[in-house]
Amino acid sequence: MNHKNFIKYGYEKIRYKKKDADFLRSTIIKLIKTKTKLKKVDLNELHKVYPVNKLNQLRLYLYNKINKDKKFNNKIYEIFENEISELVGSENVQSYISLSIQYPNDGTSLLTLHSDSSQSDSVFQVNLWIPFVNVKKTKSMFIINPKNSIDILKKMKNNKNYKIHDANKRYKKKMKWLNLNFGEAIFFSPNCLHGNVVNQEMTTRISINLRFKNLYSPYVKNVGNLKNIENFYKTVNKKLITSFNLHYPFNDFAK
Ligand SMILES: [Fe+2]
Repeated sequence: MNHKNFIKYGYEKIRYKKKDADFLRSTIIKLIKTKTKLKKVDLNELHKVYPVNKLNQLRLYLYNKINKDKKFNNKIYEIFENEISELVGSENVQSYISLSIQYPNDGTSLLTLHSDSSQSDSVFQVNLWIPFVNVKKTKSMFIINPKNSIDILKKMKNNKNYKIHDANKRYKKKMKWLNLNFGEAIFFSPNCLHGNVVNQEMTTRISINLRFKNLYSPYVKNVGNLKNIENFYKTVNKKLITSFNLHYPFNDFAK
């Protein structure tokens, strides 16, 4: 990974193997076929053959299936293991996989400008975003670089009347819309402001995202244990001494 660029822009684009991209996409397509009974599925054209009012059912179905699918989960980890290790270390925790389907002109699942750390995620988290179609412009997601994100967050902190809505309007030009082809993914710091808008392109976007952090990096400080290991992350790569100490309560007796 290019460390200088990640620090400057808050993200890094990764190209991964075609064979692996095909595996992930075909898993999604097979599930869509099962749920919708469609014989042929072209993800870009899904909005033409499956009604928008049933989309939430499909989202929920896919979400549950992919999160239970060990092979799918392991494959993602295997593909991106080097980057994950470089970003947060080899002993890490991972959130559940979120899934997003954005039909053209459908505003039912939007994520307006936000940072995950202002919503109680740890600042030491990194997000992995994997689209299964080519994405650009409003079909994609945007990110605001760390420097500008800090400017906006500062303004919101110092002026209670300055709302995310104002930032959304004023910082339009600073939003970097990610241009990715199928077979590419993005690691980004979700401390940087990011989000999406209504997809105004002609085709459907389907993507997943998941979050990683080091098991031992600090968790969020002011919401108790809301997003801690037990209820938000699962441990991916526990080392032996961690397993040992999670098994026995020695820590209760330590001084
Ligand atoms: Fe987010």
